[in-house]
Amino acid sequence: MSHSSPSVFKLAIFDAKPYDRQFLEAANAPHGLSLTFFEEKLKASTASLSQGFDAVCAFVNDDLDADVMATLHANGVRLVAMRCAGYNNVNMKAACDLGITVVRVPEYSPYAVAEYALGLLLTLNRKIHRAYNRVREGNFAISGLMGFDLRGKTMGIIGTGRIGRTFAELLQGFGMRLLAHDPFPSPDAARLGLAYVPLETLLRESDVISLHCPLTPENTHLLRHDTIALLKDGAILINTSRGKLIDTAALIDGLKSGKVGAAGLDVYEEETDYFFEDRSDNPIQDDALARLMTFPNVIISSHQAFFTREAETNIAQTTLASVADFRDGKTPQLAICEHCAGARPCPGKTAGQRCRS
Ligand code: NAI
Repeated sequence: MSHSSPSVFKLAIFDAKPYDRQFLEAANAPHGLSLTFFEEKLKASTASLSQGFDAVCAFVNDDLDADVMATLHANGVRLVAMRCAGYNNVNMKAACDLGITVVRVPEYSPYAVAEYALGLLLTLNRKIHRAYNRVREGNFAISGLMGFDLRGKTMGIIGTGRIGRTFAELLQGFGMRLLAHDPFPSPDAARLGLAYVPLETLLRESDVISLHCPLTPENTHLLRHDTIALLKDGAILINTSRGKLIDTAALIDGLKSGKVGAAGLDVYEEETDYFFEDRSDNPIQDDALARLMTFPNVIISSHQAFFTREAETNIAQTTLASVADFRDGKTPQLAICEHCAGARPCPGKTAGQRCRS
C-alpha cells in the first residue's frame, strides 16, 4: 500500500527486511494503515525520510536519539512504534518532552529467546558446531570435542523477567542448581527452583551464566575485567540480551586466558553495522568482532534469538494494533512511559518527573 491518500494514517517502517514486510502486511489487514517500507535504519542521517508520516516503526539497531526525535517531531510524527522489546536505543526523555508517544512489544515470545539461549549453551558445551564442520570435511575424530554434563552444575541467570523465567522453566529437566540475580526477584522463585543471590556470588559460583536483563546505563559492561575475574575458570557465558552488557575487550582477554570457557553471543556491543546485513563481500573493519570470530569456543549469531514464526507474527500484530489504537484516539496499552502511558501531555512532567530514559 502506498502513503498517497491524505486521510489514511501513514506509518514509515525503517530497517525493513523482506520478512518484516511479509508479517506486517499480513497483520495490517484488519487495520488498513498505510505502510511504507524503508530499508534504511532510522538515525540522524535518515530521519528526514519521516516527512509526511504520522508514525514511524523502528527496530533494535535504529538510533532514536534526541536529534532524531526532534526531526521526527518537526516532520509531524507523533508516534514511535518499536517492533521489539528493548528500547535502550530510544531517548525517552526527548520523546516525552516533545509529546511523542513510544510503544513497544514487551512480550512476543519469551520461548523464542529462551530456547535459543539453551541452544547456544548445548551447542557450545558439546561443541556441535565444530562436529558439524569436521564431519563435513571427512574428519570423524572426536578429540577436542569433550563437554561436561549439565546435571549437577550451577547456572546463573541474570535477569528473571519473562525470558529469564522461561529459560529457568526450560532448565527444569536438566538437574542444574539455579542461581539468579535480579533487583526484583520473581514470586515464582520457589516453583522454578531459583535461589536469588548477590551478583558477586552468582559470578563466583556459576558454571554457566546467561544474561536476560535489559541494558540500562547502570548495567552497561556488567561483565568487564573485574567482574570476569570473579568467574569460575572455564565458565560459559551466554548473552541473548544486549551486546553492551559485556565489555568485548575484557571478554576477549577472558577467552584468551581460559577464564571464560566459551561464549554464545547473539548480540554484540558494536553490532549495528553488521548484524542483520550481508557483509560477506567486504573485509570486517571491526577488529574486536573479527577477533571474536576466530575463537573455536565462541558462537556469534546475528541477533536472531527472537526470530521464530510465532514471535514475528506477535510482533507485527501487536505493533500494528498499538498504531491503530493511537490512530483511533485510544491510549495505547503498550506505551513505555510509566507516568503517562502514552497520554498527552504526560502527567509525570507536571509532577517534575520524566519518562524513563
Ligand atoms: P523483562 O522486562 O520481562 O525482564 C527483565 C528483568 O531484568 C526484570 O525482572 C528486571 O528486574 C531485570 N533486571 C533489570 N536490570 C537488571 C540488572 N542490572 N541485573 C539483573 N536483573 C536486572 O524482559 P524480557 O522480556 O525478559 O527481556 C530481557 C531482555 O532480552 C530485553 O531487555 C532485551 O534486551 C533482550 N531481548 C533480546 C532478544 C534477541 O532477539 N536477542 C529478543 C527479545 C529481548
